[in-house]
Amino acid sequence: MRDPKLDQLAQAPVIQVTNVVRDYPRPRTSLLQAAPVVHALRGVSLEVRAGERFGIVGESGCGKSTLLRIIAALDRATSGRVLVEGTDITRLPERRLRFLRENLQLVFQDPMSSLDPRMRVRDIIAEPLVVQGHPASGERVRELLEAVGLSADAGDRYPHQFSGGQRQRISIARALAPRPRILIADEPVSALDVSVRAQVLNLISDLVDELNLTLIFVSHDLSVVKHVCDRVAVMHAGEIVESGYTGDVYAAPRHPYTRRLVSAIPTLHRALAGTTTTDLLKEDPT
Ligand SMILES: Nc1ncnc2c1ncn2[C@@H]1O[C@H](COP(=O)(O)OP(=O)(O)O)[C@@H](O)[C@H]1O
Ligand SMILES: [Mg+2]
Repeated sequence: MRDPKLDQLAQAPVIQVTNVVRDYPRPRTSLLQAAPVVHALRGVSLEVRAGERFGIVGESGCGKSTLLRIIAALDRATSGRVLVEGTDITRLPERRLRFLRENLQLVFQDPMSSLDPRMRVRDIIAEPLVVQGHPASGERVRELLEAVGLSADAGDRYPHQFSGGQRQRISIARALAPRPRILIADEPVSALDVSVRAQVLNLISDLVDELNLTLIFVSHDLSVVKHVCDRVAVMHAGEIVESGYTGDVYAAPRHPYTRRLVSAIPTLHRALAGTTTTDLLKEDPT
C-alpha cells in the first residue's frame, strides 16, 4: 500500500506563505520621533497541502489572526507572498479575489459578534451564497443545518435564541455554504463553554474529513491543536519557531518556547475542564 503521507507530499501546496511581514503603525506619540510600529509578523513561511489539517499555535498576540487575515486577503502583507491554489493573492485587487472568497471560508472565535443578531439563521447561512450570486435554496440551508447537528426549524430563529456552541455550529454551516475547499478556523472553541468544546472540535474534524477540506486551525492551546491537526507550526512573537507533524513536535519539541508549551500542556481532559495552556504558563513562568 502507498503511504498517504507520500501522496500528499507529491501534490503542490494549496497555501504557500513566503516571508510574510506585517507591520502595523502605532499612533504617533511625539512629532519629533518616527511613528513606532508593531511587528506583528516578522517573516513567516509555511506550506499547507490539500487535505491537510494544519495547526498554528502560540500565545495571544503572537500574530496568528494577522497571518490568517493575510492568507484570506482580508489584510495585506507589508512584504512577502501568499499563493492560494497557485495564485499570488498578495497584490490582487478585490475584484480578482472571487475564487478565494468562494473557496476559502473562515470561522471566528466569537460567534456572537460574527453573526448578525437581526438576521434569521436561514438567511445568515444563505448569505455567502447570495453575496456570490448563487441561488440559496431552502433545501441547501436545511442540508447545512443537518450537517452541523441543528434541527431544520433552527432556520426560523435568531442567533440569540441559541447557546454558544449552537451559534458556533451556525457559523460553521455558514462557512460551508459555498462548498469551500479550504476552511480556516481562528480559535473556534476558545470562547465556548468548556462542556461543549469537544463536541464542536469533533464536528469540525468530522466535516473536514467528510467534505475533504484543507483545514488551517489556530489555537493558543496546543492540546486543542493536537486533537485536530496533522501538522503544527508554533508561533512566537511574529515568527514560526518550530513546525512538524503534531505528534513529533509534541513528543520531542526542539525550540525552548515549544518545550515550555508542551511541558505546560494540560491533558485534553483538563483543557476541556477549563484550564488552558496559557493559564498554566502564567502559573509557572519558568
Ligand atoms: N489592525 C491592527 N492595528 C494595529 N495593531 C494590530 C492590528 N492587528 C493586530 N495588531 C497587533 O499585532 C500583534 C498580533 O496580533 P494578532 O494577530 O491578533 O495576534 P493573535 O491572534 O496571535 O492573538 C498584536 O501586538 C496586535 O496588537
Ligand atoms: Mg487571534
